[in-house]
Amino acid sequence: MLLAEVVAVLQPRAGGRYVDATVGGGGHAAALLEASAPSGWLFGCDRDPAAIAAAAERLAGFAGRFELRLGAFERLGEWLAPGSCEGVVADLGVSSHQIDTAERGFSFVNDGPLDMRMNPQVGRTAADWVNETPAEELARLFAELGDERHARRIARAIAEDRERSPFTTTRQLAGLIERVVPRRGAAVHPATRVFQALRMVVNDELGALERGLEAAWRVLRCGGRLACVTFHSGEVRVVRRFGRVRARDYEVAGEVDVPELRRLRPAQLNWVTRRAVVPTDEELAANPRARSAQLRVMEKLAD
Ligand SMILES: C[S@@+](CC[C@H](N)C(=O)[O-])C[C@H]1O[C@@H](n2cnc3c(N)ncnc32)[C@H](O)[C@@H]1O
Repeated sequence: MLLAEVVAVLQPRAGGRYVDATVGGGGHAAALLEASAPSGWLFGCDRDPAAIAAAAERLAGFAGRFELRLGAFERLGEWLAPGSCEGVVADLGVSSHQIDTAERGFSFVNDGPLDMRMNPQVGRTAADWVNETPAEELARLFAELGDERHARRIARAIAEDRERSPFTTTRQLAGLIERVVPRRGAAVHPATRVFQALRMVVNDELGALERGLEAAWRVLRCGGRLACVTFHSGEVRVVRRFGRVRARDYEVAGEVDVPELRRLRPAQLNWVTRRAVVPTDEELAANPRARSAQLRVMEKLAD
C-alpha cells in the first residue's frame, strides 16, 4: 500500500541497498528495484513461506539484484551488516493473498481452518487460542487489540460453546459472533474486530514490530530512511514511541523523565513526515483495504 509514496520517500538510486522487511507478493520490492536500476540491490524477508515463493516469482526479472529470506524482520541483524542499507520499508499487517486464501484461516467470509499463523509451520493457531485461553483474557484481547465493544459477551459465548465442541473453523467462530452481536446495518462484518485481534495475538504482531524496528534501525546507515505503513492504532503507538525516544536531543536517566537529570546528546532521528501520509482517493477506490493505512517515515541521524 502507499507504493508511490514509499518509493518517493526512500529515493532509491543505482548502487543503493534497500530492505523490504515484509516483502509479501513483492510489489514494493519490484518498485524499489525498478527505481534503483541498473545496480540497486534489495533484501526482502517475510514470515510467510508462500509470500517468499510469490516474491521470488514476481522479482525473477531482477535476477542477481535481490536476496529473499524466510523469517520475521526482527532477524535483519543476522542477515545484514550494521549500517549497510540506505532504506527500509515495512508494510505491516496481513496481505490480500493471505486473507483471500481460505485454508490460511484469516477470513470470516470463506470457511477454512481457524489458523491465522503467518508462518503455518510455527506457533499456536487461532483455534488453540480460542479453545484454551480463559474467557477474561479473551475479552481483554478482543477489547485491546480489536476495539471490540462486545468483547465480554463474545468471550463468554465462546467459553460456553467450546465446552460442547471446540472451535476448528473460521465459519464456526464467525457464526457465533453473528449470533451474539447485533448487526444493525453496521458497515463492517461483526466478526471483523475479533478476527483482527486473534490474528495479532497469534502472530505476536506488536512484539514483532517493536523488535523489528530495533533491528531495522541497526542495519540502516546514517542518513538512511525507515518507512512504516501501519494499519492498526497499536502499530501506530509502537512506531511513534520508537521515533519519539530517538528524536529527542537528550537521554532520560531512569524510568521517569526528570528534566534536571536529562543527559544531553544529539538527536538520533528526524521525522521525514511529521504527519502520517494516507492513501489517495484513487488508491482507496481501487483497494478498500487501504482505508486504515498510514505511512510514517524516519531518517537516521546517528546510532
Ligand atoms: C501488507 S503485506 C505486504 C505486501 C507487500 N508490501 C507487497 O507489495 O506485496 C504484509 C506482509 O508482511 C508479513 N509480515 C507481517 N509481520 C511480519 C514480520 N514481523 N516480519 C516479516 N514479515 C511480516 C506478512 O506475512 C505479509 O506477507
